[in-house]
Amino acid sequence: MSTALPVEFSDIQGLARFGYKHHTEASFLLLRVRDRDAARRWLGAVPVSTAEAIEPPPDTALQVAFSSEGLRALGVADAIVDAFAADFVAGMGNDENRARRLGDVGTNEPSRWQWGGAGREPHVLLLLYALPGRLAEFRRRVGAECEGGFDLMADLSTSDLDGIEPFGFTDGISQPLLDWERRRAARDAERNDYSNLSCLGEYLLGYPNEYGGYTDRPLLDPALAGTQLPRAEDAPDRSDLGRNGSYLVLRQLRQDVHGFWQFVDRQAGGDAVRRERIASAMVGRGRDGVPLVGPADETIEGGGVPGDLNAFTYRSDPDGLRCPLGAHVRRSNPRNADLPAGTPGFLSWAKRTLGFDADALAHDLVASTRFHRLLRRGREYGPAVSPEQALAEAGGAEPGLHFICLNANIARQFEFVQNAWAMGLHFDGLPNESDPLLGTRLAAAGGTPTDGFSLPRGDGPGERIAGLPQFVTVLGGAYFFLPGIRALRFLATAH
Ligand code: HEM
Repeated sequence: MSTALPVEFSDIQGLARFGYKHHTEASFLLLRVRDRDAARRWLGAVPVSTAEAIEPPPDTALQVAFSSEGLRALGVADAIVDAFAADFVAGMGNDENRARRLGDVGTNEPSRWQWGGAGREPHVLLLLYALPGRLAEFRRRVGAECEGGFDLMADLSTSDLDGIEPFGFTDGISQPLLDWERRRAARDAERNDYSNLSCLGEYLLGYPNEYGGYTDRPLLDPALAGTQLPRAEDAPDRSDLGRNGSYLVLRQLRQDVHGFWQFVDRQAGGDAVRRERIASAMVGRGRDGVPLVGPADETIEGGGVPGDLNAFTYRSDPDGLRCPLGAHVRRSNPRNADLPAGTPGFLSWAKRTLGFDADALAHDLVASTRFHRLLRRGREYGPAVSPEQALAEAGGAEPGLHFICLNANIARQFEFVQNAWAMGLHFDGLPNESDPLLGTRLAAAGGTPTDGFSLPRGDGPGERIAGLPQFVTVLGGAYFFLPGIRALRFLATAH
């Protein structure tokens, strides 16, 4: 049993604990600082919703996050900004190398984005959540309040599609369970079985993560920080600017819903049952959210009540006969019980799963999925287009997803999942194919096509669909720091 200090919910922004499900209306404002003093005054006092549970839920909730450029624009000293993690400091869309790794190439290129990337980086992100009917007034009030200090760069509206993402699948089912009681022993070498319980330090800065370490964040001289900030757990002589904060990844992803259903329908030869089967295979769940792999055949820590659509691993389906190896959910969380039956040892599994060579892996235990979990907080936007509509119409306004996730280590969590698993062409030994939903389909080196999707079958040679179009296009993106409440007030005054 750990003797760790209790978590101070009053110092954590609510999004780390709640999805604001009751707050079905939301709007995300991207701001640039125009008048530094006015901006700081507003940020120093604005009421921000915390992770304390409030019943009944308040009418509205506001969350505030900063890009690294935004911190500089507010006058925070370079020495402080540069002490944040390198990926956050660099930003999402500012260099070619990162763009290549994230699949931000071709039509996803940052130079084509509507916002974000070099020269168009938002400074501040305001996330506004409201109970039904309450957003318009809240949006108007917040907009008026920050008019003095900021220019509005973009107002990302959202739609309430009732828990269904625009392609028509139930979303938001699988989430890690955060260890708020701090029960989980960090660095537990025995933990190679899939567990949904995840150390706080995977999402919140200033707490031990799954390695038993603390991720990068600025630790300040208390003489400089004053009494405002808490001391660092791992360095009690320093003030912890990161404590109770998180890194927030935002990507605006347009979904070609018409293209998706029309392609799947062509593959199915117009057969409705087959169409549904192919579409579900691409996701890894039915449209109702039921996992293709079937219910859990083992006990899973942090999950497992009957009917829980998240209580499963791929242990019983090593060859992807029920859930294809390349399905979106299998790629984005292979649940590390993904050990093929009879595989002798962790290294060979990791080699097979990640396409890494065994020597490199001997020094690198990242293969375990518990180091690559994401706390997803995205919201849909645009009109609802049903599969039937998508099949009947030639095309139309395409909706999408404002993908949001929280993590304490952008490189090891979001970037790894996006790069190695979603974009990876040899994930789990697959032949030159990427995520069926997210892939760019751009040819690999030497012109090798990457637009296939393999559907293994138990009763003969597997099926391979070719010619997948690109279904998802990146329209914008940025990395933000979602500070703890004390850190937010400190940043509003820091030099
Ligand atoms: C428009 C783009 C996307 C669509 C339509 C989409 C759709 C879905 C759907 C339908 C699910 C299943 C519901 C659930 O398990 O909660 C899911 C799960 C998931 N997605 Fe996505 N997604 C998109 C983008 C992304 C991106 C960019 C990432 C991360 C790089 C991501 C990571 C995940 C993860 C981690 C899960 C949970 C997997 C699990 O734990 O089993 N998704 N997504």
